[in-house]
Amino acid sequence: MFPKKPPMGFNTWNTFGPDIDDKTIRETADAMVDKGLLKAGYEYLVIDDCWSERKRDPETDKIIPDKIKFPNGMRSVSDYVHSKGLKFGMYSCAGVLTCAGYPGSFDHEFLDAKTFAEYGADFLKYDYCFKPGDVNGTLLYRRISMALQNCGRDILLSACNWGADNVHDWIRSTGSGMYRSTGDINDSFKSFRDIFLSQVGNFKYSGPGCFNDIDMLTVGMHNKGNVAASGCTDTEYRTEFALWCMAGVPLMLGCDLREIDDTTLKLVTNPYLLRINQDEECRPIFQVRGEGGNIYVRILSGGELAIMLVNFADRKYPVFFPFEHIGLPTSVKKGLALKNAFTGEDEGVEKEYIRTPVDAHDCAVYIAKVVDL
Ligand code: GLA
Repeated sequence: MFPKKPPMGFNTWNTFGPDIDDKTIRETADAMVDKGLLKAGYEYLVIDDCWSERKRDPETDKIIPDKIKFPNGMRSVSDYVHSKGLKFGMYSCAGVLTCAGYPGSFDHEFLDAKTFAEYGADFLKYDYCFKPGDVNGTLLYRRISMALQNCGRDILLSACNWGADNVHDWIRSTGSGMYRSTGDINDSFKSFRDIFLSQVGNFKYSGPGCFNDIDMLTVGMHNKGNVAASGCTDTEYRTEFALWCMAGVPLMLGCDLREIDDTTLKLVTNPYLLRINQDEECRPIFQVRGEGGNIYVRILSGGELAIMLVNFADRKYPVFFPFEHIGLPTSVKKGLALKNAFTGEDEGVEKEYIRTPVDAHDCAVYIAKVVDL
């Protein structure tokens, strides 16, 4: 499948880890619809690792869903997810085992792709653990992609090799629709900051058809669940979400959507941030010189710009962003009309620069338009 915009949805791993079952998935599907997340664009509900029995069926060689976790089988779960208007995602691995030790798809790619098609899957996350050392990883992503393209269903391939082997160089050629470029996130400021910073130079490889995936969001987890670490403040979560939106990467929520708090719900459904993330031109961000923080800019369609001033430091700083660094010296007599992307409020026109105090770990995000002075 060739996604034209960064895919959006939910993945079970960050909160539930191995503790997934039929009920949890159905309740999550309900929450995605009832809380307006589907309406905002979050359409994939992806079941991650630990969904199957430990052994394949000895007769058919197929992977079989865990009989206790999923007593009604996967088709029934998938039918329910589809009945809510959502898309259904599954998980497997390029190696002989998944990362948690369940059967992987190595040497079973065509059979498993057919099985996922029978389940009604629309998305397949494909991990990289337990890959036989002598086998070329690129080849394995090509193989599963071919298997999916010939399985009779349109299934988005979500590759997950954590950035190994300069993945951005070749992954688009395999037919993958998105690709994990980094190691696993955990629920801490340091984790999402380091993940984002490691990819700033690589977003130029990301775009329609094949998006750089910097992992499922921890926004709103508040240190509960499978990837709990130190937890984050709401300020830090809004910085995380804004970074993912600016970067134009897939937005896969990871908190427990059945219990999502109002602040988080408002953040992840914010139409201005989502407009930045889902911009049809999918241009990469670029970093701009300034003082007091990191400044990222992204050209949007319709002559608009997205601007983010981030303070990764541990104390408040005035951040200074002179417009000459994006090609607007004073001589052109142009300014920027700024809309605050968190509140949607117009903040007037700035002439030569933005100078604004930004709290520790916080950010300011604007949608801007060039105007005559
Ligand atoms: C790897 C992936 C994670 C998750 C786990 C499941 O670590 O990177 O996103 O899928 O495997 O075991």
